[in-house]
Amino acid sequence: MQGRSAAPPDFDAAMFRSVLGQFATGVTIITTRAANGDLIGITASSFNSVSLTPPLVLWSLATQSGSMPVFQANSHYVINVLAASQVELCLRFASSKGNRFEGVPYHSTDSGIPIIDGALAWFECHNRSRYAEGDHVIFVGEVERCSLNENPEQTEPLVFHGGRFHTVNGLD
Ligand SMILES: Cc1cc2nc3c(=O)[nH]c(=O)nc-3n(C[C@H](O)[C@H](O)[C@H](O)COP(=O)(O)O)c2cc1C
Repeated sequence: MQGRSAAPPDFDAAMFRSVLGQFATGVTIITTRAANGDLIGITASSFNSVSLTPPLVLWSLATQSGSMPVFQANSHYVINVLAASQVELCLRFASSKGNRFEGVPYHSTDSGIPIIDGALAWFECHNRSRYAEGDHVIFVGEVERCSLNENPEQTEPLVFHGGRFHTVNGLD
């Protein structure tokens, strides 16, 4: 069918969320540093790969997110892929209470952006594009540096599915 605009949804937002939740994802914390030096971090499962050459990734942030002004203004951020053992950090960086970085072990990129210790992997990105769509903004980042956790004890990813956290039980 050609040229027909989208039909209105025949489902509500709760149903949409439940259906989307069947797509299992990893979980990330996306970090940056505000102009005043404050450390910023938010939990996000919307991360995905886009392109190998050039190396591009994407994630999306709710328009009403408190961190939006900083992510709109900043050129760089780090995407930290969480390990199964980091579920507490995942919840902390999804909640608005207090200083999210208090007691969190991290080291910093050359530009002072936190890389969370114990993360499975991280991507340091220069933001390339932003697309406002619906109630989110899609960020496309060009990866400048990335690395894996070399600790063999720290290889199990945190998995989010059906609104709950899981670990991978090794199908092999
Ligand atoms: C597992 C999980 C995944 C999430 N993924 C996203 C996401 O991809 N984008 C988003 O905007 N919020 C996401 N959130 C919600 C944010 O982490 C949460 O709203 C956070 O408090 C935003 O912080 P801010 O208001 O300080 O920016 C997620 C929360 C959880 C628990």
